[in-house]
Amino acid sequence: MPLNLASKPAVLCAFLFLAVSALSVVKAEDPYRFFDWNVTYGFIYPLGVRQQGILINGQFPGPDIHSVTNDNLIINVYNSLDEPFLLSW
Ligand SMILES: *[C@@H]1O[C@H](CO)[C@@H](O)[C@H](O)[C@H]1NC(C)=O
Repeated sequence: MPLNLASKPAVLCAFLFLAVSALSVVKAEDPYRFFDWNVTYGFIYPLGVRQQGILINGQFPGPDIHSVTNDNLIINVYNSLDEPFLLSW
């Protein structure tokens, strides 16, 4: 026998309740933040003494990342050095 929802208000209410509940459980995905970092050699001046250092986008220390917990960070790192480069945090 086919289920006729219109003739069964309790079933219809239950179905609507489940549908609305499912919608409220699904939350928007956390935001993505995209960065391009170019790693190069450059001069830094620790204690006023010039020496070669490693810069990110021309800065030392590198750029700040403004984000909050659960943000998704996508960082494209271009190694323009002539040696391998390791980032960690
Ligand atoms: C990185 O910086 C160097 C030096 O300014 C430049 O030659 C190179 O094209 C840059 N690479 C990228 C991917 O921006």
